[in-house]
Amino acid sequence: MDGNGRWAHGRGLARSEGHRRGKDSVRAVVEAARELGIPYLTLFAFSSENWARPGTEVRFLMSLLHRYLVTEVKRLMKRGIRVIALGDLERLPAQVRRALEQTVEMTAGNHTMTAALALSYGGRQDVVTATRRIAQAVAEGKLDPAQIDEQTVARELATGGMPDPDLLIRTSGELRISNFFLYQLAYTELYFTDTLWPDFRERDLLRAIAAYQTRERRFGTVETASPHRLRAAN
Ligand code: IPE
Ligand code: MG
Repeated sequence: MDGNGRWAHGRGLARSEGHRRGKDSVRAVVEAARELGIPYLTLFAFSSENWARPGTEVRFLMSLLHRYLVTEVKRLMKRGIRVIALGDLERLPAQVRRALEQTVEMTAGNHTMTAALALSYGGRQDVVTATRRIAQAVAEGKLDPAQIDEQTVARELATGGMPDPDLLIRTSGELRISNFFLYQLAYTELYFTDTLWPDFRERDLLRAIAAYQTRERRFGTVETASPHRLRAAN
């Protein structure tokens, strides 16, 4: 989700106004994805590098996140959406962490869609943490290095148990991954749009999915993968 600052700047508004409006896009996209029957939606909400922003902006983003978690839970429950969080959550302010834990706990039994919030998340750190866990298991004699395979690594990542993403959407015209899912994106279809995140709504999600549906996914082979169509949610 990128372009909140530019959206605000273009209107002569403070960056915080872009973030505030971006929160409405989050609601719109989460609910639209759920309607479409998408089983997993991950939102890269705050990167490990975003901590380096000015304190006032970080505090504003944290308070916005807190408000989102508290006020959105009713709507999430009503729609059967489960919330999980990925990243270095220890770094979040205690109040945000508590609200996050509560939302995760309250929605744990929901199974229509999983909305994963990547918070204080960095793709390289994710790989480092997984490596450390694997090394620990080897040191304890619980794991033979010869048995380490791609599944072992995938399991230890923050996304362990989640499927690899089919589609990555980046808004605001930037053509970078910016330390998002590095291991997980191996065969993900990439979609870049100039639309700024605060303007990104259901129609933009549909456009991205329509583009995805024209892609031929070969996963390194020569066969045409069976057409991937989204189920309608029932
Ligand atoms: C994305 O918008 C929001 C977060 C990273 C939290 P930006 O704040 O990065 O907006 P730009 O890139 O300055 O336009
Ligand atoms: Mg940005």
